[in-house]
Amino acid sequence: MYSSGGIDAANFVSSFNTAFFFVAGIALFLLTGLTITMLWFAYRYNKKRNKVATQITGNTALEVTWTVIPILLALAMFHYGWVGWKTLNKPPKDAMTVTSIARMWNFSFIYGNGRQSPELYVPVNTPVKLNITSLDVIHSLFIPAFRIKSDMIPGRQKEMWFIPGSVGKYDIFCAEYCGLQHSYMHSKVNVLSKEDFDKWYIDTTKVQLTSAEATPGAAGEAIMKAQGCFACHSTDGSRIIGPSYLNLWGHQQTVVRDGKEVAVTVNEDYVRRSIFDPNADVVKGFPKNLMQPYTGTVSQDDVEKIIEYLKSLSGEKPS
Ligand code: CUA
Repeated sequence: MYSSGGIDAANFVSSFNTAFFFVAGIALFLLTGLTITMLWFAYRYNKKRNKVATQITGNTALEVTWTVIPILLALAMFHYGWVGWKTLNKPPKDAMTVTSIARMWNFSFIYGNGRQSPELYVPVNTPVKLNITSLDVIHSLFIPAFRIKSDMIPGRQKEMWFIPGSVGKYDIFCAEYCGLQHSYMHSKVNVLSKEDFDKWYIDTTKVQLTSAEATPGAAGEAIMKAQGCFACHSTDGSRIIGPSYLNLWGHQQTVVRDGKEVAVTVNEDYVRRSIFDPNADVVKGFPKNLMQPYTGTVSQDDVEKIIEYLKSLSGEKPS
């Protein structure tokens, strides 16, 4: 179920909409009023009808009016903005906390029990607090249907919160230009009923596989999907941002290490280094410092499964 965000998609929607339509209404009223006045003046005081220019030297009533009315309008706009804004920074104490990490070019959501997901899952009608940060450049987490957005800044923890109001699936976008794949950096908020969420939450198997999918390497592929690896690395030999995974395992790579070219064989050490210290050896012809370490989001156990997957892409029978 997809929704663009009805009035009750989240708690901030109605106060945001009130402020927006109030300001837009005033702007529309002024635009219309000024345009009509301007046209009237152009007609009434043109040279034919008003040969001698009319001079007005002062009009107290008029001056008071055009001072007081704009002040009242500006204060009213401020009021609606303020009412909506002040609650944005005050997450309720009992909010469910989810850590969200941005990196080029995906989001990870990490739950209290260690569960990780590239999409956000939340229970309906429950306050949710996101602790957000970035591992590389500035990103921005934007949920249009909930009317909330916050920058994700490297080296800084920030908070944002909301109460989802109806079950459904809503878009998440990165709203800060963050490099080549910025436009592909999006995800979903899945708002579930409380029962469905509890079921999802207690299932800490990172990867669910049906027996048909449980081919060698499938677990590794699912982990890499969750981490967003395929945004930059293809599996068919084509070049995206980083080297392709096709026929990688067991083959020679020329890497640049401390400015010198070195030939290395892609083995377990190489894969581990590429995940946890990706800028130590950078494959020749690819930019440095584009990939950030996946320490903390990829476990040692995950690496084993990723290797199984890489083997399957290199025609090697996985062990
Ligand atoms: Cu991340 Cu744009």
